[in-house]
Amino acid sequence: MNPIDANEFLSAFSLALDKAENQPFEHAQRTTYIALQIARELKLSEKELGDIYTSSLLHDIGITTSQADAHEDVSLLVNHCTTGADMIKGLPLSAEVVDYVRWHHANWDGSGPFERQGDEIPLGAQIVYLADRIDLRLRELGSIYNDRSVIQEFLKKNKGTLFSPLIVEAFLDIQSREKFWLDHSSTYLPGILQVIQPKVNLEICTDTLNVIANTFATIIDNKSPFTYNHSRGLAELALAFGKHYAFSPETLKQLHTSALLHDLGKLTIPNEILDKPGRLTSEEYQIIKSHPYYTKLILSKINGLETIRDWAGNHHETLDGKGYSEGLTEKELGIHEQIIALCDVYQALTESRPYRKPMSYSKAIDIISELVRNGKLSRQVFASLQQVIA
Ligand SMILES: [Fe+2]
Ligand SMILES: [Fe+2]
Ligand SMILES: [Fe+2]
Ligand SMILES: [Fe+2]
Repeated sequence: MNPIDANEFLSAFSLALDKAENQPFEHAQRTTYIALQIARELKLSEKELGDIYTSSLLHDIGITTSQADAHEDVSLLVNHCTTGADMIKGLPLSAEVVDYVRWHHANWDGSGPFERQGDEIPLGAQIVYLADRIDLRLRELGSIYNDRSVIQEFLKKNKGTLFSPLIVEAFLDIQSREKFWLDHSSTYLPGILQVIQPKVNLEICTDTLNVIANTFATIIDNKSPFTYNHSRGLAELALAFGKHYAFSPETLKQLHTSALLHDLGKLTIPNEILDKPGRLTSEEYQIIKSHPYYTKLILSKINGLETIRDWAGNHHETLDGKGYSEGLTEKELGIHEQIIALCDVYQALTESRPYRKPMSYSKAIDIISELVRNGKLSRQVFASLQQVIA
């Protein structure tokens, strides 16, 4: 696999997390921008900057079911911090990153549901907390020119209670410079972040990528009760196909990772549509159909991941060129994409959906054979299905 830039990787995946927590794209990157400014103002080390950068981008990874109220409800508040920390514990990240995520809502004065206060709360977590809250407040404001005092008042009011006085003072200094407001409100923020980002100590090889993909598959599957095992079940099935075709170990891992990530773009689809029990309107159907586009868009931001981007993002393309989102044709769709496409249909048919019960094996086979006859799915892959499943 080509080398992957960890910063590029974390930024891209943070876009998926923005949507998982019902935030607009780039909430995590804007939080990261603020957190880095504070960290630099406090003259923290490069290692600390790297940890703050990583934890800011991943801070809400524990919000797994698109709960808009995860920051309002006290039990969800603790739950998403603990879940997030536990989720990233298995990734090759420093213990500090895990800790910053775990304590990113702890109030400085010990009020609230967390058991730590003051300097017991890791400094990085204190920074991420303030940066996150500032970004959310800034979004509610109309104009960076007229509404700055709202932020200043908010911080002064909560200095020493919600937030550490040291960090509030650092932020007040930063925001006294015009550059902060222009940077933060810029539509070019990802580019600005790229210039100031620290080096992250995370080597992404095929194995690491697979572990991260597993974590994201859990987030994707947990988004809806109907898909609680969809990506992971599909990935197992795709892996069995890969072994059946005697793919190399490296190809097997890429295929598995692609299958785990195939529905990454579903994080952008509102749950009201995904879980709707009745018939979808034509607009809702079009919105659902946009998810492979977003899978590809997010993965396309990472150089070196082109193969996985295509194998994952082409799963709703059909051999007759009438699939979505690009209308690719048979000669543009390789065996790996054809495997994931067929496994996706099989996996979906044998799971419950809001509007139907899971189908039996034979009913699913009938439907898939019809799709093969109509030139949608691969005849060759279908021919192997029974042997693979047996
Ligand atoms: Fe949070
Ligand atoms: Fe957040
Ligand atoms: Fe899909
Ligand atoms: Fe799927």
